[in-house]
Amino acid sequence: MKGILLAGGSGTRLYPMTFSISKQIIPVYDKPMIYYPLSTLISSGINDILVITTQKDLPLFQDLLKNGAQWGCKISYKIQYEPNGIAEAFIIAEEFIGNDNVSLILGDNIFYFPSLKNIISSFTQASGASIFAYHVANPSRYGVVEFTNLNQIVSIEEKPINPKSNYAIPGFYFFDSNVVSLAKQLKPSERGELEITDLILKYHNNNQLNVIKMDKGTAWLDTGTVSSLMNAAQFVQVLEKRQGLKVGCVEEQAYLMNYINSQQLKKIANQFKNSYGDYLNSLINE
Ligand code: DAU
Repeated sequence: MKGILLAGGSGTRLYPMTFSISKQIIPVYDKPMIYYPLSTLISSGINDILVITTQKDLPLFQDLLKNGAQWGCKISYKIQYEPNGIAEAFIIAEEFIGNDNVSLILGDNIFYFPSLKNIISSFTQASGASIFAYHVANPSRYGVVEFTNLNQIVSIEEKPINPKSNYAIPGFYFFDSNVVSLAKQLKPSERGELEITDLILKYHNNNQLNVIKMDKGTAWLDTGTVSSLMNAAQFVQVLEKRQGLKVGCVEEQAYLMNYINSQQLKKIANQFKNSYGDYLNSLINE
């Protein structure tokens, strides 16, 4: 399975923080925001990754992530010239996707998934689409999925004023290669975007949608507002301090997935003369 990491958009909700730099580059505690979704893809076993970003921000991501070879990955890039909606990513990525299944993760979504690999491995060969549902207190900022008592899907709505359930749809989705032609059929919504929820609805209408409720041990964190960004940083700090382990550490996940060996990890670790480097070195000695 291939992976798309969507890191465009205008970031206006975080102005002035994101006036001159991309939202997905700003730090969440001890690493750039994009490290978190990137490490989620890597720990899902996905190492052929397309980063989609704006023309202005492209050099920043190329400088930070390079071609991915340092982490045993292949990272390529495409530009989204205007923020025409999340679903446009599949049209931009047509050539990259080819006949493969593809996962899309939003560059500002942070997950803490202890048992991710087991869940994801069931999607990689599957046809149709698979998405997650996560119980939140205030669902109206998100795509929302409503279920019957028997867990059948009743409705899917984007940012409903009166949400029909508390289950929000996180920005981590899995599709078969039909996603490209289905995305091309979409019409812009009232806010002028090709909506990811409209694409998901197409799969639902074809009886090809699988929704998995994330269990309570999982954390899905939002970085959409100044205060949720701060909360996400605090969550990472608390967990890292308490456990002495890192969340969203790309180098660690690449090592755990055997994309890089201990010598390669050591080389990276030695570039950081700080506690991040010490942490990477400690992984080798474990
Ligand atoms: O975070 C999950 C939510 O993400 C889902 O529940 C919603 O269904 C989905 O529409 C989306 O809602 P947001 O309002 O949070 O989307 P936002 O416009 O903030 O974009 C999310 C990320 O995608 C952000 O990092 C910027 C990037 N993006 C967005 C658009 C619209 C792009 O790169 N290009 C775009 O055209």
